[in-house]
Amino acid sequence: MANGWDESAEAWIASIGEEGDFSRACVLDRPMLARVRAGNFNYALDAGCGEGRFSRLLQGIGVRTVGIDPTARLIQEARRRDPGGDYRVGYAENLQFPNETFDLVVSYLTLIDIPDVATAIAEMTRVLKPGGRLLIANLTSFSTAGEGWSSEAERRFCIDHYLDTRALLSEWDGIRITNWHRPLSYYMTLLLGEGLILRHFDEPRPHGGKPAVAEKYQRVPWLMMMEWEKP
Ligand SMILES: C[S@@+](CC[C@H](N)C(=O)[O-])C[C@H]1O[C@@H](n2cnc3c(N)ncnc32)[C@H](O)[C@@H]1O
Repeated sequence: MANGWDESAEAWIASIGEEGDFSRACVLDRPMLARVRAGNFNYALDAGCGEGRFSRLLQGIGVRTVGIDPTARLIQEARRRDPGGDYRVGYAENLQFPNETFDLVVSYLTLIDIPDVATAIAEMTRVLKPGGRLLIANLTSFSTAGEGWSSEAERRFCIDHYLDTRALLSEWDGIRITNWHRPLSYYMTLLLGEGLILRHFDEPRPHGGKPAVAEKYQRVPWLMMMEWEKP
């Protein structure tokens, strides 16, 4: 199913920049990198690497990284920005790596984008070595079930049809993509079904950035992190 990423690649590159958007620069990068540092990893897969920003951060702290993404324009940009890096066109549902290749697999805001997330989670688990970690940052299912702020001066954030899995059209900054809403139990059931063990969970607080934006990030459960170990 076309998800809009090919058509949105140019706008995505312009919007994400080198620092990343608020969710990345002011919420997720810091705790995600802290988990990576704590794990002492050698070889990582960044599944759905986009234009490679987080892959470059991983390499910057000494973790050899392969980035894969199905959007050819984003992989082209990742290679342009990091000519020595390893970036490949590919789908998380069909990883072209042998079993037990990596000690870290990162899914940084990609589970919401992946149509067949059950196969993708099985694949990410397959390519992990025993003892390896699957480090996930995702939009919370509360936010993907969100229908926006109520009109009375944004006093409430509205959530509806929480248990119904569905595709969502998201549009901002010239980007027009399909994301998926799935209840949290959907993801947890898949991850537990792979035999993975939850080692870390967080809903990181924002730091820095515009106070008005940070305030909104504190009011609604937007983002979460999970780290799972393959036994
Ligand atoms: C929100 S972007 C995140 C990119 C990058 N991880 C980051 O945080 O900047 C989602 C990415 O998922 C990719 N994607 C879409 N379908 C995918 C699939 N089936 N397997 C792997 N990645 C996919 C898109 O091409 C896009 O680059």
